Amino acid sequence: MKILVLHGPNLNMLGTREPAIYGSTTLSHINECLQARGVELGTEVECVQSNHEGVLIDQIQQQMKEVAGMIINPGAFTHYSYALRDALAVVAVPVIEVHLSNIYAREAFRHTSVIAPVTQGHIVGLGWRGYLLALEAILEIVREQTGEDVE
Ligand code: DQA
Repeated sequence: MKILVLHGPNLNMLGTREPAIYGSTTLSHINECLQARGVELGTEVECVQSNHEGVLIDQIQQQMKEVAGMIINPGAFTHYSYALRDALAVVAVPVIEVHLSNIYAREAFRHTSVIAPVTQGHIVGLGWRGYLLALEAILEIVREQTGEDVE
């Protein structure tokens, strides 16, 4: 089983990017934690970051038949990318949206996610922990759907 984790624009700068908002954990550390947790939970975790909308869409299209679920932090694309939304709308496997910060407690333009309606659910404001919670949740959802026992 494989879970695809997509990180959108500017998330490669985590660690140094506005640490008061996004924390001081780097993206490579988040990815290492996800992969280690994946091993414990019996799944492969592939992490891809891109600053380019088309690269994220290509990843979704190329991998949607191969993976059991997707976790995505679309970065600022969250708020306006109908192209990313349309790509996710045809994904049959569960998708969970993650935001490090509480987008509802920030500027008004961040309060809207055009991605949320085509996801299973989203986790906001819990920092790096949100990704790990998303991984645990998505595996439970997948295993419930496939009738496997959930521990
Ligand atoms: C973000 C929130 C977005 O508004 C912002 O553009 C980001 C990061 C978050 O994880 O909190 O790049 O997705």
